[in-house]
Amino acid sequence: KIAVFVSGNGTNLQALIDAVSRGEIKAGISLVVSNNKDAFALTRARNAGIESFVLSHKGFEIRSDYDREIMKELEKRDIGLVVLAGFMRLLSPEFIKKYQNRILNIHPSVLPSFKGTHAIKDAFESGAKETGVTVHFVDEELDHGPIVLQETVRIEKNDTLEKLEEKIHAVEHKLYPMAVRLFVEGKL
Ligand code: GRF
Repeated sequence: KIAVFVSGNGTNLQALIDAVSRGEIKAGISLVVSNNKDAFALTRARNAGIESFVLSHKGFEIRSDYDREIMKELEKRDIGLVVLAGFMRLLSPEFIKKYQNRILNIHPSVLPSFKGTHAIKDAFESGAKETGVTVHFVDEELDHGPIVLQETVRIEKNDTLEKLEEKIHAVEHKLYPMAVRLFVEGKL
């Protein structure tokens, strides 16, 4: 059973929902977790008939208190894999320990290059000739942990930032379902 964590648009969530419904991933998405009640990802979950749990982090002074509320929901549903898909929150050491080797993240760069929130823009502005996408297991460091899949994307001379974003997202939507599938099949 999979839980997907989101904060925004949820195009990666959609790619996973579609891969499950095509039968490519032999597991169910049982829960979508969001810290943002306005995330469009929640509409995608609703349209797919997936339950969601929304909890704002505002009002929680201690990160692990917030995470503990989420962990309760995961336990209730016997979640075996946590998939971070644009979830704009760091997880506490307690959470990471509990789900060690069972949390995946997708990041829009070839890690360890261009960590952080503005990875695509940073790569675009750096003059690098290529960037890409990484799926990795999550450890206690930001955008860090054992790498599962990586694919590079060329930054062409006439690419705009928007064009590059489009190319990166297209790779994400292919790579993430592939990684989740490998996990579910016990191949990681
Ligand atoms: C993606 O670019 C992902 O790599 C990053 O956050 C973005 C989420 O996009 N971690 P979406 O909400 O899945 O459309």
